Amino acid sequence: MSDNKNEKIIIANWKMKLGFGDSVKLAKDFSDKFADFKEESKTVVACPSLVSLSEVKKVLGDNVKMGAQNVFWEVQGSYTGEISPNSLEEIGCKYVIVGHSERRKHLLENYAMIHQKVKTLLSSSKLIPIVCIGEEADDRKTDRRDYVLMNQIQQALGGVNIGGDQKIVVAYEPVWAIGSGTALDPEEAKYAHKIIRLALNDMFGMKVVEANFKVVYGGSVTSENVKNFSDLEDIDGLLVGGASLDADEFLKICKNI
Ligand code: PGA
Repeated sequence: MSDNKNEKIIIANWKMKLGFGDSVKLAKDFSDKFADFKEESKTVVACPSLVSLSEVKKVLGDNVKMGAQNVFWEVQGSYTGEISPNSLEEIGCKYVIVGHSERRKHLLENYAMIHQKVKTLLSSSKLIPIVCIGEEADDRKTDRRDYVLMNQIQQALGGVNIGGDQKIVVAYEPVWAIGSGTALDPEEAKYAHKIIRLALNDMFGMKVVEANFKVVYGGSVTSENVKNFSDLEDIDGLLVGGASLDADEFLKICKNI
């Protein structure tokens, strides 16, 4: 991710959908398909499962950066089963997803933890956090979305110091849209991204937001609907789950955003 404010970032989240061998195979596919993908203004990131990261790094090629799907908020210590930001950096990760809604749901990860993770990443590593926010279906129905988004941003990023060349990606993923086959309507996406940007501007100031933040959309993006998002102001890229498990499909998405 560079300082170019028009740069788009497209992130593949492979979740726990592939075993070790299939992850390495898909990484090789990415490396082949993205060999000629040299668009200056686009950064492509793949986030494989933890166990496959080292091996994936060996085959991923130069045009796709590597990210992890989770990290702990301490760099070292008695934290059985957890993942240090330093170890992720050591094996070649540049990015890490923080607080994905699937972790919030199944692992009871909350925004206090997410906040700690972001702080540690910024103070003790060069990893770029991809911080996930997004409302539930009920919040949308009852018009609580704006409040929920602003509150999540406040909890995750309130009091966080960011400056210099540090970066944060905020991924707006309406929980109800993830894996549903129904992406957010572009007008709604435009509106939600505006709210997110206003909340960030309020906390960090416009200059910092422009220089240090990207705000991306995630939730059932495919090569069919990607065009809906490509011209929207305030959308700096995409976080793609299901459709990133096929290198051809993902390449189409990257070309068309
Ligand atoms: P999806 O997942 O593209 O399969 O909806 C997105 C995500 O969970 O990051």
